Amino acid sequence: MDIFEIDGPVKLSGTIEVAGSKNAALPMMAASLLAAGETVIPNAPNLADIHSFESLLSQLGARVSRDANGALHIDATTIDNPVGEYDIVRKMRASICILGPLLARCGKVKVSMPGGCAIGDRPVDIHLRGLKALGARIRLENGYIVAEAPPGGLVGAQIFLGGPFGSTVLGTDNVMMAATLAKGATVIESAACEPEVADLAHCLNAMGAKISGIGSPRLVIEGVNELKPVSWTVIGDRIEAGTFMVAAAITKSRLRLRNCDLNHMVAVVDRLRSIGAVIEPTEDGCEAAQYGAICPADITTQPYPGFPTDLQAQLMALLALGEGNSVITEKIYPDRFMHVAEMNRMAANLRKEGPSVIVAGVERLIAAPVMASDLRASAALVLAGLAAYGTTVVHRVYHIDRGYEKIEEKLNAVGAKIRRVDV
Ligand code: EPU
Repeated sequence: MDIFEIDGPVKLSGTIEVAGSKNAALPMMAASLLAAGETVIPNAPNLADIHSFESLLSQLGARVSRDANGALHIDATTIDNPVGEYDIVRKMRASICILGPLLARCGKVKVSMPGGCAIGDRPVDIHLRGLKALGARIRLENGYIVAEAPPGGLVGAQIFLGGPFGSTVLGTDNVMMAATLAKGATVIESAACEPEVADLAHCLNAMGAKISGIGSPRLVIEGVNELKPVSWTVIGDRIEAGTFMVAAAITKSRLRLRNCDLNHMVAVVDRLRSIGAVIEPTEDGCEAAQYGAICPADITTQPYPGFPTDLQAQLMALLALGEGNSVITEKIYPDRFMHVAEMNRMAANLRKEGPSVIVAGVERLIAAPVMASDLRASAALVLAGLAAYGTTVVHRVYHIDRGYEKIEEKLNAVGAKIRRVDV
């Protein structure tokens, strides 16, 4: 099992190429199931989660390959086993988004019910409610969700997709994909507005779907008879970009990021600027720098366009070195605070109070052995390690490999000192 040894503190400088978005690529891979023929995703990131999804698609009957340029090819002409097995779904919850496309394409699908994970319960009730509204019959059988379309196929409907924590990203993806092939019009109210959902909707339209209201909480989908495969380049990963912006800020350095769109990061840029970071747009991304003190700030995670939960842990690492007290409140996953105890092992002063963490800034973080618990928490520990005095050892880096492509190589290329060691 790999660990990272991170020497700090370091100064960074140079340019980092941000990868294609994981959370845009995964639903796009599911969307390939809607069309017979070959879908191509030229910039699908090379990550553990994407590899798991490739295995899932192969199990369903699709043919999946990467070409010499790294583009992902998915030939979904034959889907002869519409079953999402427990072994894959338990590793990667995004597998749930095969539900909508397979229901629409095959009329029947069976997917293991995902369990909880390190960041909380993560139910799928809203996904199922939306698919039922389109006429699907759904039952739970031996831990599997079994969904069947009515004999004449799915039928468009008016659907409310809001839940106790706002909209649902993969739930909106699932219902939107199913509705593209339903009879008549579907209106999704309280749809997720995340750029990854909008990217999927644009991709579906390129495939022949008729979706309007893209990027808004009200999506209108006119069902069509069939979709055709396309080649679709996914958006840059705003969460990876945000992680590298924090890398610049926490090391009081300056980095140039390519392939990111600041229009997708307005809340993040707003908070980073209030902390004292300088974020300037460039032609293909931005420059991120921190010259002076890290100012305290209050942050509340919210559905898009609010501050993303996927950057909460990283900002906590930064504010741990703030000159004063900050409050970070988690409104999407109230239990997503596994990193708090680990950062305190590095001499941070963090105190959890219900869904909030009071961050009392300290002058220095001090290296320690720490344990990664989930993808974004591990990224935060790596960031803390860049600024901490001594050699931080991050265990279980497989969590980070799920969502960051060669993070240690990217950071080392701009001055970090991170060793991957197989222990
Ligand atoms: N929720 C329900 N019922 C549902 C679905 C969701 O109550 O049926 C709740 C969730 O428990 C949560 C909130 O609604 O409290 C929002 O969850 P959402 O469904 O939007 O999350 P998701 O679609 O399962 C995606 C990302 C996550 C990201 C969240 C929130 C992918 C593959 N995953 O998950 O990304 O945190 O949206 O933005 O797109 C990550 O990349 O590290 C990651 C966890």
